[in-house]
Amino acid sequence: MRLTPQKDQGLSQQLYIALRGWIESGELASGEALPSSRQLARELNIGRNTALAALDRLAAEGFVVTRPGAGLFVASLSLAETRHDAPAASENAQLSRRGDHLLAACAPSGGPHSTFAPGIPALDLFPREQWQRLLRRHQQRAPEAWLAYQGDGGVAELKTALCDYLRLSRSVRCTPGQILITQGAQQGFELIARLLADPGDHAWVEEPGYAGAQVALTAAGLSLVPVPVDADGIDLQCVPDGPGPKLIYVTPSHQYPSGITLTLARRLALLKAARDRGAWIIEDDYDSEFRYSSPPLASLQGLVDQAPVIYVGTFSKVLYPGLRLGYLVLPLALVEPFRRANARFHREGQYVAQAALAEFIDQGHFSRHVARMRRAYRSRQAALREALAPAVARGMTLSEGHAGMHLLAGLDSLGQERTLVEAGRRQGIALSPLSGYFLGDRPEPGLVLGYAGSPEVEIARAGGWLAQAWIDSAAPASG
Ligand SMILES: Cc1ncc(COP(=O)(O)O)c(C=O)c1O
Repeated sequence: MRLTPQKDQGLSQQLYIALRGWIESGELASGEALPSSRQLARELNIGRNTALAALDRLAAEGFVVTRPGAGLFVASLSLAETRHDAPAASENAQLSRRGDHLLAACAPSGGPHSTFAPGIPALDLFPREQWQRLLRRHQQRAPEAWLAYQGDGGVAELKTALCDYLRLSRSVRCTPGQILITQGAQQGFELIARLLADPGDHAWVEEPGYAGAQVALTAAGLSLVPVPVDADGIDLQCVPDGPGPKLIYVTPSHQYPSGITLTLARRLALLKAARDRGAWIIEDDYDSEFRYSSPPLASLQGLVDQAPVIYVGTFSKVLYPGLRLGYLVLPLALVEPFRRANARFHREGQYVAQAALAEFIDQGHFSRHVARMRRAYRSRQAALREALAPAVARGMTLSEGHAGMHLLAGLDSLGQERTLVEAGRRQGIALSPLSGYFLGDRPEPGLVLGYAGSPEVEIARAGGWLAQAWIDSAAPASG
């Protein structure tokens, strides 16, 4: 054996690796004596401390044992069994039944975002420098306690700022104490599902609907009952017979993905249904800031006093998804249990980002950013409409797009949907099929076309391609 000095590996490390390798391969058998550090140093022409360091490490890790007065010996280990008889770890890497069930509900994440990725905001227009300045300032000022575990349900200033904002712009009935800051809406769904329902309970969900919330409900063992959405929103008349729900998940301001607004009559019916059945409504208000032809709608939570509603909000759309900040507005009686469970379950964090966000809101940057994004999204949506105009002229239907960050293109058949998604894949343009948002056996064909995350030129290019692909795919049917 010869050891030569190397830049990335000291002599002691080299010696350790060599000896450990021989022990693992069996070349140095159990019980065999090792040379002393003095012998090693002499024979390898290295310092004695270097040899000692390698031997000490092998001893500390249990590969060799010291017999007082006799020296170092290879430990008696069943390394061979681990090596030869046990199946390879990769063969063993099977998920549990629950894991398999859960994974079936988790579509693979689509890699780097593509032009029409739904739900991605304009990351290119986010005021990064201003945000960095705020982060830096709050990082410098952060009290030491913020570096430890937290249990307050979030930074007080953020809860106050949010509360003012929600009361004013969303007519949410709340006090700052009712707000629990979470790491995104997803964590809020998780907490609600685990704390307010038992495995086997039923949850009504919109059909089509949002997979993120559905995954959280499924993970908590709930049985999902898809309830159809029509032009007025979720239609409770269509609920199949069965046990009442514990939870009802809705997106009343802007149904995801159909874009429909839940009418007042349906809102009242929903509140009554929840009250009658002792169920909680989860109101997911994920993108209500982006309405283009009217002010944001009042929330369901604020419609009546003591509504059985947990309001869920997120900063993923207004700021950016990687921020992982969202919140729950909880009825007073649920504040303490939710806060305690969250602090143990998920741990609180991101207090510096929360403080920066509170200032971002207080200083008016938040509302200016929202106003700017509204203008940008309006013009990105216009670019998409313009690009798709040739297809629309030949019968493609597009949703009205009064709000939100995506348009829905209706298609004639699931076959056409498949053809377009496949053609998009070949072209490097990922298309979101509407049928993928259905749980039941009557999926409708369409495309969910996010437009917020891409500049107009990109939308024009990909939209132009899509219009032509639609015309090509529709051609055989029309003539
Ligand atoms: C309907 C809906 N709710 C909530 C969210 C936000 O989830 P999160 O805050 O976990 O990023 C999204 C994001 O895509 C969404 O589409």
